[in-house]
Amino acid sequence: MQLKRLVLKLLPLKGNMKTRGFVSAAVMAGMMLMALGYFIYDGHQRGGGMMGKMMGMMMNETGRHSFLMSNGVPQKYAELSNPLPSSPENISAGKELYNINCMSCHGETGLGDGVAGKSLDPAPADLISSLSMPMSSDSFLYWSISAGGSAFNSAMPAFESVLNENERWQIITYLRQL
Ligand code: HEC
Repeated sequence: MQLKRLVLKLLPLKGNMKTRGFVSAAVMAGMMLMALGYFIYDGHQRGGGMMGKMMGMMMNETGRHSFLMSNGVPQKYAELSNPLPSSPENISAGKELYNINCMSCHGETGLGDGVAGKSLDPAPADLISSLSMPMSSDSFLYWSISAGGSAFNSAMPAFESVLNENERWQIITYLRQL
C-alpha cells in the first residue's frame, strides 16, 4: 500500500496524461521532419539515387515519345507538312539520301537494324513501325530528323545543317512509301 500511494503521488493521473500527450506530439513532429528530410534528400539525389535511376530509365526508353505525349512537336516544327508530291523523282532522291545518311543505323529497310546502330542505347528506331503509328505526322518526322536526339541522350544526329529542307522532305517522302 505504501508503495502504491507513493507511485500515485509521484505520477498523478493528470500530469501523466499531459506528459504522454507531449511525448507523442514530439514523436509526431520528429517523424514529419524525417519524412520531409527524406524528400529533400531524395530530390538532391535525382539522377544518381535509386529514384533518379528509375526515372532515367523510364525517360530514356521512351524519351522522344513521352516528350511528344506531354509537349507535342516543338513549336518550331509543329505547323510543317510535306510540300513535295510523292513523285518517282522525289522517292528515288529520298532513297539515295536515306542510304547515305540513315541506313547505317536504321537499316536498309528502316527496321532499325543497321550495323552502326547495334551498340547504341537507346537503339535506332524501327522506322517502319514508327511510320505505322498515328504520331508520325510530317512535323514529327521533320522535327526528329532536323533536331536529332541530343535532347534524349540518343545518337540520332541532327540533320538541320547537313541536309537542306528539300532533302529532308525527300527522305520523308521515301519513308512514307516503304
Ligand atoms: C548514328 C545513328 C543514327 C543515324 C545515322 C540516324 N538515326 Fe534516326 N535515330 C537514331 C536513334 C538512336 C533513334 C532513337 C532515339 C531518338 O528518337 O532520338 C533515332 C530516331 C529516329 C526517328 C524517331 C522515330 C521515333 O519513332 O521516335 C526518326 C524519324 C529517325 N530517327 C529518322 C532518321 C533519318 C531519316 C535519318 C537519316 C537522315 C536518321 N534517322 C539517321 C539513330 C540514328
